[in-house]
Amino acid sequence: MNQEEMKTDPKLIKDGTRIVYRINRAYRTSIIYESNNFIYMRQIKMLLNQIKNALKSYGKAYLTLKQNSMQFNGRKLKFSYSDYHIFKFIQEEFKKKEIGELSFIPGITKEELNTFIVLLAKKDYDPKNPYEDFLSELKKKDIKKIIAEKIPFYEKTKKKNRDAKKVFFMGITHLKEIFQSHEKLQDQISLLTTKRLMQSLFNHITENESFIHGLTNIKNFDEYTLNHSVNVCILSISLGKKLGLDRNELVDLGLAAFLHDFGKLDIPKDILLKPGKLDENERETIEKHTFYGAVKLIDFKRKSHLPLDALNVALEHHESEGKRGYPKLVKKRAIALFSKIVKITDVFDAMTTSRPYRKHNFSKEEALSYMLEKGSGDFDSVILKIFADMVGVCPIGSLVLLDTGEVGIVFERNEQSKHFLRPKVKLISDQSGNKIDGDIVDLTEKDKNDKYLRTLIKTLDESQYGIRTADYFVAEAE
Ligand SMILES: [Fe+2]
Ligand SMILES: [Fe+2]
Repeated sequence: MNQEEMKTDPKLIKDGTRIVYRINRAYRTSIIYESNNFIYMRQIKMLLNQIKNALKSYGKAYLTLKQNSMQFNGRKLKFSYSDYHIFKFIQEEFKKKEIGELSFIPGITKEELNTFIVLLAKKDYDPKNPYEDFLSELKKKDIKKIIAEKIPFYEKTKKKNRDAKKVFFMGITHLKEIFQSHEKLQDQISLLTTKRLMQSLFNHITENESFIHGLTNIKNFDEYTLNHSVNVCILSISLGKKLGLDRNELVDLGLAAFLHDFGKLDIPKDILLKPGKLDENERETIEKHTFYGAVKLIDFKRKSHLPLDALNVALEHHESEGKRGYPKLVKKRAIALFSKIVKITDVFDAMTTSRPYRKHNFSKEEALSYMLEKGSGDFDSVILKIFADMVGVCPIGSLVLLDTGEVGIVFERNEQSKHFLRPKVKLISDQSGNKIDGDIVDLTEKDKNDKYLRTLIKTLDESQYGIRTADYFVAEAE
């Protein structure tokens, strides 16, 4: 049977599905009975027959685990609604051992299959290296006709991205809960959950920083303040990390950034959401959010453990090193480090978010160069410089044109300074301008002649192309 025939062969799909069903039955029976019990052995025999028939028909028999499906000999299997739990169960068991592909080789014996199923059902594999542990067991038992391949790296990356996305949206929901319960005067919110969320964000930033920065391109998902606060929180933890703060400090910094605009709850919505320019009175009202925020947090602090820095940040995140900024305090005093950090990430996120009162949307580069120009007056110049390095020349989420004519989105920065213009890019349109769900390519890749395969020419304005780069980060974590 050739490749094309195989693709459309319903028998192949049926045979593959049966093998999965038989693995499931054998697995479950192995938990109840001894490995020499005849009921169990009967299951093994049926599974073996199914595999042997497939090997006879197709010359090969391998199951591949995909993100949300399973393939047999490269063809996606179909499970009925009532049998979907079987697929899910086997998928989970494979995942627990990080098995991405299982191949049965001609000559497979009943004994090998028996031992394999028993090992598959065994629970106590090393949680850090389950695949390696499982593989060494297979080797010990001399199983040669069943080959288990590890889940490819990209599948693991997908999982990491999915988890990061979950934490990101949890952040928005959690802040909404804090706001709502505060408005209803039910201050039952435990900051323990908030703290755990910060710890989780810290872990994701440590492991998967590029992707989580990509998520900060999601703007106005819910109310502006909610989404903005989560973005400021993420960028602040990252910036604090670059400044050498330790884990506990970063969790506190995250918490402070998360609640920095808490005082906006006390600002009338019609002023907060006014589409036009604010008059003097309205501006003064909005500026009070720093003071209101600090007062609210003092109240919060009485009921729950809240770092003192959160109060500072709420009060000082619009204060400026120079003359601008607010609130204007009678007695000048030093601005806390956390406030200096949040001031930078706050302005950056606010500038790069489209707002109803602003005609022009700032790209990240524009926002950064604007901040650097104003720098000495408004921001701590050293911290701003480190922030500019962190965001980079082509920030994550930028839409870029390549010399091949392809268009892509910057997904991962290149940490080597000589390659800062060669990040990893997700291709979204081909040379002819057709939209594609392309691969993530590394711009440092070269051909045989030592020539770069792709080079970045320029960044493009996403609004002009009707593209929302954030959508691609969300999709990448589906
Ligand atoms: Fe603010
Ligand atoms: Fe803010």
